[in-house]
Amino acid sequence: MKLQNANSNEEMGRLAADIFTDAIRAKPDIVLGLATGSTPLTLYGELIRRYGEGIADFSEVKTVNLDEYVGLAGSHNQSYRYFMDENLFNYINIDMGDTFLPDGLAEDLKAECERYNEVIDSLGGVDLQLLGIGLNGHLGFNEPSDAFSSRTQVVELTESTINANSRFFSNPSDVPRLAITMGIQDIMQAKKIILVASAGKKDIVGKAMNGEITPQVPASILQKHPDVTIILSEE
Ligand code: GLP
Repeated sequence: MKLQNANSNEEMGRLAADIFTDAIRAKPDIVLGLATGSTPLTLYGELIRRYGEGIADFSEVKTVNLDEYVGLAGSHNQSYRYFMDENLFNYINIDMGDTFLPDGLAEDLKAECERYNEVIDSLGGVDLQLLGIGLNGHLGFNEPSDAFSSRTQVVELTESTINANSRFFSNPSDVPRLAITMGIQDIMQAKKIILVASAGKKDIVGKAMNGEITPQVPASILQKHPDVTIILSEE
C-alpha cells in the first residue's frame, strides 16, 4: 500500500483528482467505483472544476457506487443517489444512464443485489475504485463481522455507523437501519484502489494498513490488494 500525506482536505482532493483525471485520459470509457461521505467531497469539487476547465471529459465514463440506504428514494436528500447527483453528476458531462447505484426502494432486495452484481459484471468490473473508511474500518457499508463478504448484499448497519451518519439527518431516528453494499470481493477485484481519509481516521487507517488482516477491520483486507493508494489529510 502506498501512503500519500496531504496538508489539507483540499490538497487530498487535488492529489486524488490527479489520479482520476490521468486514469480517465488513459481510458476514456473507464469504469469508476465511487463512494459517498464527506471525505470525497473535495475530490468531487476538483473533478467538477477540472471538467469546467476542459481538463476532464466524462462523456464515456461509467460509474458504479458502493452502496445505498434501504428505504430511501433517489429523490430523498439523504439517499446516495441524491448525494452523487448533487455533488458530482449534475455538474459534469456524464451520461446519467451510465451512473449506477443500488435501488434502495427495490421490493425484492435479494433480486436487487443480484441485479447490481450483473451491472458490475456487464461493465467488466471496476477499473479505479474510490473508497472512504468508516470509523470502525468499514468499506462501503461492509461492517466489521466474522467473515469478509463476497458480493453485493443487504447489511444491517452497526450502532457506530448509525451514530456517525446521523449528523446528516434532521432526526437521528430517521437513519435507515439497512443498506445495500457492494461486497468486499467486488472491491478487491478493482484494478486500482484509492482510499481517502481525513485526520480523524488516522488510527483506523493505521490499523487497516499495519494491523492484523481481519474481517473485524474490513479495510485491513486492502493489505492483500496489489495497487492501493491511501491519501491521508492532516486536516
Ligand atoms: C458512509 C459510507 C462509506 C464512507 C463512510 C465515511 O458510511 N457508506 O462509504 O466511507 O460513510 O464517511 P465520511 O467520509 O463522511 O467520514
